[in-house]
Amino acid sequence: MIQFQLCNPTDIRFGQGQIASLADLVPADACVLLLYGGGSIKKNGVYDQVVAALGERRRVEFGGVEPNPVYETLQKASAFARENAVDFVLGVGGGSVIDAAKFLSAMIASDSDDPWDAFVQGYGQAPAVPNGAVLTLPATGSESNPVSVISNHGRELKIPFASQAVRPAFAIMDPATMLSLSRRQLENGVVDALTHVLEQYLTMPVNTPVQYGFSETLLEVLIEWGPVLVETRSMEACENVMWAANQALNGLVGAGVPQDWSTHMIGHAITALYGIDHARTLTMVMPSLLRHRLDAKQAMLARYGRRVWRIEGDDDRAVAEAAIAKTEAFMVRMGCPVRISEMIEDFNADGLVDHLVRAEQTALGEGQDIGAGEVREILALAA
Ligand code: NZQ
Ligand code: ZN
Repeated sequence: MIQFQLCNPTDIRFGQGQIASLADLVPADACVLLLYGGGSIKKNGVYDQVVAALGERRRVEFGGVEPNPVYETLQKASAFARENAVDFVLGVGGGSVIDAAKFLSAMIASDSDDPWDAFVQGYGQAPAVPNGAVLTLPATGSESNPVSVISNHGRELKIPFASQAVRPAFAIMDPATMLSLSRRQLENGVVDALTHVLEQYLTMPVNTPVQYGFSETLLEVLIEWGPVLVETRSMEACENVMWAANQALNGLVGAGVPQDWSTHMIGHAITALYGIDHARTLTMVMPSLLRHRLDAKQAMLARYGRRVWRIEGDDDRAVAEAAIAKTEAFMVRMGCPVRISEMIEDFNADGLVDHLVRAEQTALGEGQDIGAGEVREILALAA
């Protein structure tokens, strides 16, 4: 097991009606910035519940955070927050709004209106005002993890930033908020969470049976309940997918194991260049990436195939290949593309590699051995 530290102090409040607990979770004397996206929270009743729970607290609001939140928008939000002496950021929405709230909590505490370069260098040490999350779209795990993925339009970059200082103080997960999600967003959430588990699980085997067993349970839950969620939107399905998506990326299954975030880094570049939904960029790359890395990942792919997909047989390679095919078929079942050409007509591999170079992401994979040449080969397989 690789040495690890695991400290997740986010106070999780799960279940229907939990938005009311904001009344206890947000400091009574806080000046709150209520941050939200394109307005879904005003149509589905979430905004009204939040405002009621905040009660008499001083509150200002900033809406319009985009899917794949944009740095230039957050610069406006940060100036607005400083003008209003905000000392608590409340993100109400999906991963984009919550990522934005976390990044903003560090921007507000910085002395600069343009801290991008300073954050690229030292985000992990930057101070932050506290923030909290009300989740409305289970997918990213952002509500209880230290990561924000931010798009800088000026630089045509989409990159992750991580800092323990911005981990939300609390995460409210009310599965009833999912009832207004489109089918596309439900599909996205399931495959994004699935990919998060796979990128922490499908590397090389180490002595972490606890993490592997929990990963396999999360995968089984997503594979069983994802289709039920999309087809029926039952409350059981909402609950199970919301909790599994949170646990997929809150630190536990990644503790002590090698990780391979190459599908995500390639996916972020695709979103930066083509504006495609995060989850769909992952499914168009991952099956080809797994096939390309079959030798390095064969042992874990075979374990995955046998334990999660119940594939029989003694031949590890055959089971590993079948496991990739099953994963690909599941992504198709969830309405997602598994080839780049399904969503992009004139794909430019040079532009994508250039993004990875500018983002300093040229030694990807659990062995840091996926460089520009390997990415080109993976993209050719995924074309
Ligand atoms: O903007 P609003 O009006 O809220 O509408 C959103 C948005 O249009 C809508 N939506 C959210 N909750 C809704 C709803 N519509 C109806 N009813 C509801 N209850 O859904 C649309 C997409 O929302 P978004 O937040 O963009 O989706 P998601 O949660 O998939 O977040 C994606 C972002 O998270 C980043 C991605 O790169 C992307 O930028 N990620 C963050 C991670 C992290 N912090 O650890 C890890 C992930 O791998 C990922 O990279
Ligand atoms: Zn993701």
